[in-house]
Amino acid sequence: MRDKERIDSQISKLEEKYKDSGQDLSSYLDGLLYQRYLTYWDYIHLDTLLSLQVPRTYFPDEEIFIMYHQITELYFKLILHEQKQLVDDKSQNIDFFIEKARRINSYFKALISSFGIMIKGMEREQFLQYRMALLPASGFQSAQYRMIEIYATPLEYLVHHTERDAFSSENSLEELYEQIYWKKGATDLATGEKTLTLKQFEYRYTPRLIRIAKQVEQSTIYQKYQQLSADKKDNKELIEALKTLDMNANVNWPLMHMGSAHRYLGKDKEQIDATGGTNWKEYLPPSFQKIVFFPGLYSKQELNDWGKEWVDHIFNPDKKQTE
Ligand code: HEM
Repeated sequence: MRDKERIDSQISKLEEKYKDSGQDLSSYLDGLLYQRYLTYWDYIHLDTLLSLQVPRTYFPDEEIFIMYHQITELYFKLILHEQKQLVDDKSQNIDFFIEKARRINSYFKALISSFGIMIKGMEREQFLQYRMALLPASGFQSAQYRMIEIYATPLEYLVHHTERDAFSSENSLEELYEQIYWKKGATDLATGEKTLTLKQFEYRYTPRLIRIAKQVEQSTIYQKYQQLSADKKDNKELIEALKTLDMNANVNWPLMHMGSAHRYLGKDKEQIDATGGTNWKEYLPPSFQKIVFFPGLYSKQELNDWGKEWVDHIFNPDKKQTE
């Protein structure tokens, strides 16, 4: 009768639980009785997931392009999932901090190594044709990518590097947001006209991104680090994990991504226009963007040389690499 005792005890605990919220346990037990057994495909919404790859043309490789973007967005979501827990954490527990940074890095690592699927996995001729059917859409409009940046570091460090010295935490979030690097990248500097890709993105996401920036005004990952006690801040493992995160997010992933832009758009003598309309050869290289989430962890020299060596590697493969 040990089973019966166990079930009696479970029922009385359930009774208590439902009574506390003014609910009737008996009705919930009826629900349990009538409920279908769960299946794998319902649990992970597999049919919905597999119905989301909808090409706009008949070129078979377009499906790879769509799917790899979706896979990347899911990884971005995993990264944000960890970032949000760090931002919300009040414990200042160093092991927790390191573990979250480690997970974020493992997601980035998967993204960096799997980018080969994009670089080598599609026929260039197909790409150059089907991409015309998705104008003016661009990965530039990935809101999650922008959120990862906003959770990682205060907006002042995302200001375009040519203006960065003129702005600080004294400026309002709205002022800083207006100067963010990716807005400049998608603006014609001569006329001041924004690309349609940027205009669409601003219309759809500005309120949400500003709301997130306000929410994490004092609690981005960089600030969480700065708020640690001096001995915790000196923790080598943590510093290493944060520097790796910076490299992954702001050098290694951007470089793999740029490699794909180079393969599909950059081979001809004349540069092919990107669907988002940026002057991508000048906009995408990490050494031109100079985005660093945790600048206090580096020397001046390191900040100056940010991503430099690798850009040479892609654009001038014959030039000898610096040590
Ligand atoms: C063949 C593959 C790809 C090519 C040729 C490509 C090309 C480009 C180009 C040229 C830009 C600059 C903006 C523009 O003018 O459109 C851009 C931006 C961007 N793309 Fe891609 N892309 C590719 C794959 C991907 C994938 C799989 C993702 C994953 C979500 C992605 C995410 C992004 C992001 C986040 C940006 C903004 C980067 C920044 O602001 O620094 N791209 N892409």
